[in-house]
Amino acid sequence: MDKIIVTGGKPLNGEIVISGAKNACLTLMPAALLTDEPLTLTNAPRLSDIRTMTDLLRSLGCEVAALQAGKVLALGAERIASTRADYEIVRKMRASILVLGPLLAREGHAEVSLPGGCAIGARPVDLHLRGLEALGAELDLRDGYVHAKAPNGLKGAAFELPFASVGATENLLMAATLAKGTTVLKNAAREPEIVDLARCLRAMGARIEGEGSPEITIEGVERLHGATHRVVADRIELGTYMLAPAIAGGRVELIGGERALLGAFCDKLEEADIAVEETGRGLAVSRRNGVIRPLHVVTEPYPGFPTDLQAQMMAMLTLGAGESLLEERIFENRFMHAPELLRMGARIEVHGGTAKVTGVEGLRGAPVMATDLRASVSLILAGLAAEGETTVSRVYHLDRGYERLEDKLQACGAQVERVKG
Ligand code: UD1
Repeated sequence: MDKIIVTGGKPLNGEIVISGAKNACLTLMPAALLTDEPLTLTNAPRLSDIRTMTDLLRSLGCEVAALQAGKVLALGAERIASTRADYEIVRKMRASILVLGPLLAREGHAEVSLPGGCAIGARPVDLHLRGLEALGAELDLRDGYVHAKAPNGLKGAAFELPFASVGATENLLMAATLAKGTTVLKNAAREPEIVDLARCLRAMGARIEGEGSPEITIEGVERLHGATHRVVADRIELGTYMLAPAIAGGRVELIGGERALLGAFCDKLEEADIAVEETGRGLAVSRRNGVIRPLHVVTEPYPGFPTDLQAQMMAMLTLGAGESLLEERIFENRFMHAPELLRMGARIEVHGGTAKVTGVEGLRGAPVMATDLRASVSLILAGLAAEGETTVSRVYHLDRGYERLEDKLQACGAQVERVKG
């Protein structure tokens, strides 16, 4: 298994181009199942999760060609060959559940294995299922699979999500585009990935209004057609690399970065005395003075502070001038990076969903282990500021979500190397 070795203590200076969003791409790809015409996605990130979704879609009979070294994905589901999303693929990635809505809407039935994914809590899919039931689907859970049927097609309905789940909103949005009549999704998720999906679906002929607000209205249409769509910038990759100069010092410009993608995250950075400038090409980040002010961070659905940046923010706050509190409200069990950061000299106490971080003068390099995608990158960030060498093992987690991480950081002067194992 590959390892990444970070030799810390060097300020970062330079620029990093932000890739297309993994999480947007993972919902845009299944949208191709909704039409027999081609869907072309540009600005796709080159990541192992995208390859997993490619394998899944191919197993359903959807053609997927990776063009321009993977930056363009040409998808075509002229015919659906299978409506069964097999456990062997689904277990690798939770976002696989996103084929359920499109398959059901197009074919009138689907069999999708219940998903696995990052080990960050129970993460059920009940909201996806309840929403599809509201659209008239008949569901049966057997042998670890969801067996879904809508023999006479899905029917538009009003459905209020008890929690603004990103995945459930995406699944229902896609399913509703081909349902008969009008669907109103209340308490819908508002994340930029939802807005991006709605834009793509609209380019395919869907009738959608209200994306980005808590209420989305979808007027079902007979059929959708092909389209070309550019994947939105990855706000989590953006936020992660914004934290690199905040932690290690220096100034980094994030090309393609936009404040609007980040909601409360930018406000929190500024509260910590990290400067965020709009440069016309993106965002530039540097410390305002030598000190990182402590913060109280609560993770919430967008536009609140994103759970996917909580681990990285914790890495920065380990060096804060005082005591910070991080409350994780989206996923239980999402502090697995804390014990690894302790190995590097951080002071962190976790009580349930809250972590108290007491800033220390400096971190020291150590061998650490990646436990999930965002936890692993928080260890790389901590390594950038630590004295000596940090060796991060199990980096396959990182490869799920960060394209060419070593190259991007090296270009700013960081000493980050991958050792093949
Ligand atoms: C997506 C992102 C993930 C991010 C998360 C929250 C993708 C591929 N993944 O995940 O990176 O961390 O949004 O921003 O886009 N829940 C239920 N029942 C459901 C669905 C969700 O109880 O049917 C709960 C989850 O267990 C979790 C919370 O709702 O506690 C948020 O989940 P959700 O917004 O659905 O996240 P995902 O779409 O899985």
